[in-house]
Amino acid sequence: MVVPNFLVSTIIVWFLSFPVATLCDISSSSRVPDECQLVYARVPDTDDQWATYTMIPRKTGTNVRKHGDIVIQWTDPEFPNYMDDESYNYDRLTWNGQETGGQYEGKFVVESIVTGIGMVAQSTTNNGGHNVLPLVPRVDEGSLTRFDSPGAGATTSYHNLTWWFSKDLEAGDELLYSHEGKKTTIPQSGNGNVRKRPSLEYLKENAYCMDNLFPRKSRVKEAGRGAYATRDLLKDSIVGPVPVALVHRDELRSKTNHNDQLLLNYCLGHNSSNWLLFPYSPIINLINHYNVPNVELQWSAPPSSNINQNDNKKIQPMMLLELVATRPIQKGEEIYLNYGKEWEDAWWKHDRDIWKPSNTHYTPSYVMDDAIRMMRTEQEQKEHPYPDNLFTSCFYRYSDRSEDERATGQNSKKKDSITSFRWHLTKGLYDLKNFRPCQVLKRMEDNSGRSAYAARILNRPGLDITEIIPKDELHVVTHIPRAAIQFSDKAYTTDQHLKYAFRHEIGLPEDLIPSSWKIKDQPAIDA
Ligand SMILES: *[C@@H]1O[C@H](CO)[C@@H](O)[C@H](O)[C@H]1NC(C)=O
Ligand SMILES: *[C@@H]1O[C@H](CO)[C@@H](O)[C@H](O)[C@H]1NC(C)=O
Repeated sequence: MVVPNFLVSTIIVWFLSFPVATLCDISSSSRVPDECQLVYARVPDTDDQWATYTMIPRKTGTNVRKHGDIVIQWTDPEFPNYMDDESYNYDRLTWNGQETGGQYEGKFVVESIVTGIGMVAQSTTNNGGHNVLPLVPRVDEGSLTRFDSPGAGATTSYHNLTWWFSKDLEAGDELLYSHEGKKTTIPQSGNGNVRKRPSLEYLKENAYCMDNLFPRKSRVKEAGRGAYATRDLLKDSIVGPVPVALVHRDELRSKTNHNDQLLLNYCLGHNSSNWLLFPYSPIINLINHYNVPNVELQWSAPPSSNINQNDNKKIQPMMLLELVATRPIQKGEEIYLNYGKEWEDAWWKHDRDIWKPSNTHYTPSYVMDDAIRMMRTEQEQKEHPYPDNLFTSCFYRYSDRSEDERATGQNSKKKDSITSFRWHLTKGLYDLKNFRPCQVLKRMEDNSGRSAYAARILNRPGLDITEIIPKDELHVVTHIPRAAIQFSDKAYTTDQHLKYAFRHEIGLPEDLIPSSWKIKDQPAIDA
């Protein structure tokens, strides 16, 4: 067997830096700081299953972390043909876009990448077996507007998706969420069987701390949000685990938008390979570029080199990098990684030659929601239209109607005869999957004198089958409160779809790429 160069060199470096370590068990005793509350560790007695554990007892209703995670919307993904092959063992770990409010970012399918807890915790198929639940992300462009910022559209506007405990947990318990929202149906956690709780000693010795970082506005101009140190970190200590998922460059080309998918900006890569690595642990994706960095990446254990350009089938499930402090870092300092010269050159070219301030009328939906108290009816909009990029949506669940009610609606197809239903608040109604287009027809006052609305409810792509209103039914709902109506951005109008939004992968040093992943004799991308 030929051992690729990569493997050899990494193993050597490896043993130099951790003399007592073996390849599978990478214990380094002072890895988890005493105050660390959330860790990532290999599940004892498994080869490659990793899980997220709490180091302290938790109470139902409290937050998993004070700060939430970013969500990246992957819009109308197109798969290269070779990925249809069933033996292509490649779990994309994405969520259905309607779970995070991303349903309108594309015209056909939207997949959400819920970074952080949504990817490092295990999901369970066991109904009710979960112990954490997500809230919805906040949406805003992080002060990078298309009118004045070359960074507009280069970062995601979906952020601060927080999680809370739906059960009391003991120290050492594993975090589990329901797999329901996920796109893939691959159960990750042994069909929902609860696993034995590892000892705190095992976690102290083997885990990686996952709360060394927190998000805040970056000090780097045009960068949006950034990552900061939660506590003092020693030189050479591990700032965080960086599990990575494989993404192929071909998956990130977007035919509809003439620009690569936003996800590219969050991937690590090098021009010598078509494979990219997407890091997904909490807050890692917010670390910005600076050419005087305070962290660098290294492999935790070298990835097996069995992936190459011609044989895409043997994908290894778990790959882990580590983020290491290259100097002492103080609590509250921003974390910087060097993205490399190519990235930097590409950015300055974008800043200088490509980016132009937008001169069209555009108001993001979240700004309109803050500004507009009283919704206009369709009639009023003829005189006073909303900005072009907007339409209105309502929280409404068609499946809440009884069989009888649905039949009434479908039988009243006579012209001008409208059956209307009264809006009711039911459990879970404000889940984002119940958010769908609606046209405001009438404004009225409810009993307490507040405005309420009558609206026609419409369908959209991606709705669950039970939510689709039959084609020729004019489904009108009355007494809708303002809170249940919101503005939405039309597909492809938000910043991430800007034609000239910056796109470039983060530079991964060439020596971190297994040689078998490289393309021989030619660069993977055009310079
Ligand atoms: C994030 O969400 C939490 C609630 O889940 C909130 O307390 C916090 O202020 C939010 N942070 C930001 C930056 O919006
Ligand atoms: C690829 O990256 C290397 C540096 O890692 C650089 O020297 C080379 O010019 C790049 N090639 C292309 C085609 O961009």
